Amino acid sequence: MRTVVMVSGGGTNLQAILDAVSDGTITNTEICGVISNRADAYALTRAAEAGIPGVCVSRKAYGTREEFENALLAAVDSFAPDLIVLAGFLVIIPKEMIRRYERRIINIHPSLIPSFCGDGFYGLHVHERVLERGVKVTGATVHFVDEGTDTGPILLQKAVAIQPDDTPEVLQRRVMEQAEWIILPQAIDAIANNRIRRDANGNFFIMN
Ligand code: GAR
Repeated sequence: MRTVVMVSGGGTNLQAILDAVSDGTITNTEICGVISNRADAYALTRAAEAGIPGVCVSRKAYGTREEFENALLAAVDSFAPDLIVLAGFLVIIPKEMIRRYERRIINIHPSLIPSFCGDGFYGLHVHERVLERGVKVTGATVHFVDEGTDTGPILLQKAVAIQPDDTPEVLQRRVMEQAEWIILPQAIDAIANNRIRRDANGNFFIMN
């Protein structure tokens, strides 16, 4: 399965995917390209170190949003992917891309959707809001991407406990270690090996 990973930052989720492909946790999968909207994203260095083509498509390089979106879509198309993984990609996905790659785009979100998601909930902000609210359990979610923000069908979730005196940074790291870096590779492997099913409610689940 040809897979493109889209990133904006440090790329620890990208690294978890690359490691899982290397150690056989993910099978039938080739990471054929990494696309970043930021030239300075450390994720691009990780891609280069793994010998994977990295492309930067920056909003700043284009006059209009439409030109940027066309360039983003052209970059995706150039890899002819079967699956697109949004791994900390903090750009609203062009509608045309969602249509063209229906049910072939997944996203990792650092909370238990439908809590702490939607517009403005990304990166560290999610964990700040979690701590402000005082919930005792958070986690991460892998979902298919549809036209809304974090509204697509859920594939996998994993819960993580909040500890007294957590800071957003400490909690972010725990959610990554205990949830994101585990469920994102699991979801990719399940898609690559045709283990996604729908139950009687129409909900998606992964067959073991
Ligand atoms: C991850 O925590 C990911 O869940 C989050 O951005 C971080 C990227 O880290 N994504 C979102 O908030 C999407 N709404 P990484 O670059 O180290 O993988």
